[in-house]
Amino acid sequence: MSIRHFLQFNDLSRDELDYIFERALWIKAQFKDYQQYWPLTDRTLVMIFEKASTRTRLSFEAGMQQLGGSAIYLNTRDSQLGRGEPVEDAAQVISRMSDIVMIRTFEQEIIERFAANSRVPVINGLTNEYHPCQILADILTFIEHRGPIQGKTVAWIGDSNNVCNTWLQAAEVLDFNVHVSTPPGYEVEQERAGLYGHAHYEEFADPMEAARGADLVTTDVWTSMGFEAENEERMRDFADWQVDADMMKVAAKDALFMHCLPAHRGEEVSADVIDGPHSVVWDEAENRLHVQKALLEFLLLGRINKA
Ligand code: CP
Ligand code: NVA
Repeated sequence: MSIRHFLQFNDLSRDELDYIFERALWIKAQFKDYQQYWPLTDRTLVMIFEKASTRTRLSFEAGMQQLGGSAIYLNTRDSQLGRGEPVEDAAQVISRMSDIVMIRTFEQEIIERFAANSRVPVINGLTNEYHPCQILADILTFIEHRGPIQGKTVAWIGDSNNVCNTWLQAAEVLDFNVHVSTPPGYEVEQERAGLYGHAHYEEFADPMEAARGADLVTTDVWTSMGFEAENEERMRDFADWQVDADMMKVAAKDALFMHCLPAHRGEEVSADVIDGPHSVVWDEAENRLHVQKALLEFLLLGRINKA
C-alpha cells in the first residue's frame, strides 16, 4: 500500500471520510464501553510541535496509547529541530524510527517538505493554512447531534484562518455550504485555502446575514498563533464579529455553536453563547480523540472490517 498523508482536508475522498466517521463512532462506542481495542500494538507515533497545544497533544497521545501503541513528543525548544536541522533530514531520520508522524508547525510548505521525505504517513496537527483534524472532529460532532452534514449551512464568523480554510475545503468534499463573514481586509484567499472554486461558499459583509438560518455557527480566535504582533489591530478590526445571543437568534432554531478552543469569552464569542444551550464545544473537543483514533487506524492499517 502506498503511503497516505493527511496534510489537508481534501487529501481524503468523501467515501474515505464517510468510512472514518463511521469507524470513529464504532471506536468511540468501544472506548465508552471499556472494551480494549489494540490494533496499533508496537506502533509508534512521533508528535512534533512548533506551536503550543493542549487538545492536539492530549488527543493524539492518549489516542495512540488507547489503540495499544505509543507516542513520543518532540518540540522545537529541546530538539535539533529548533537549531536549524533541515526539515528534509529530520523527516528521513524521524520516519526511520517511527510508524506515523503528526506535525504542528507554521507554513504548510514545511509539512509538505517533511512528508515528501518521510517513509511513513504524516498528519497535519495545524499549520498557518489548515487544521484538518479539527474539522474531522467538528463534522463528527455535527453528525452525532444532527445527522449528515450534506446540504447544510455552516456560518463562519471572524478570521479567514486555518480553521476557516479547512471548513471551506470540507464543504467542497462533503457537499455542504459555508457562509463566511470576515472584517474587510481579512477575506478568504481562495488559493491559500486550497479551494477548487466558489461553489460551496458565499461571503457576507454583515455577520448577522451570514448567520441567518445557519445550521451551525462557528468561530475562532481573532489572533491565531504566529500572528501575535497583529493582536491590537485585530482587536479593533474584529470588534463587530462576535458571536453573541442576538446572532444565535437569527440562526436556525436548533443551530449548533462550535469553537475549536481555546476561546476568548467577550471577544469572538460571548459567554452566554459558548456556555449556553446551542454550544457543543465539549463534545467537539472530545471528538478529537475518537476521530483521530480512526484516522491513525486508517492511515496505518487501511480499511478494517468491523469487529
Ligand atoms: N483546537 C486545538 O487544536 O486545540 P490545541 O491548540 O489545544 O491543540
Ligand atoms: N486558529 C487558531 C487555532 C488554534 C487551535 C490558531 O491557529 O492559533
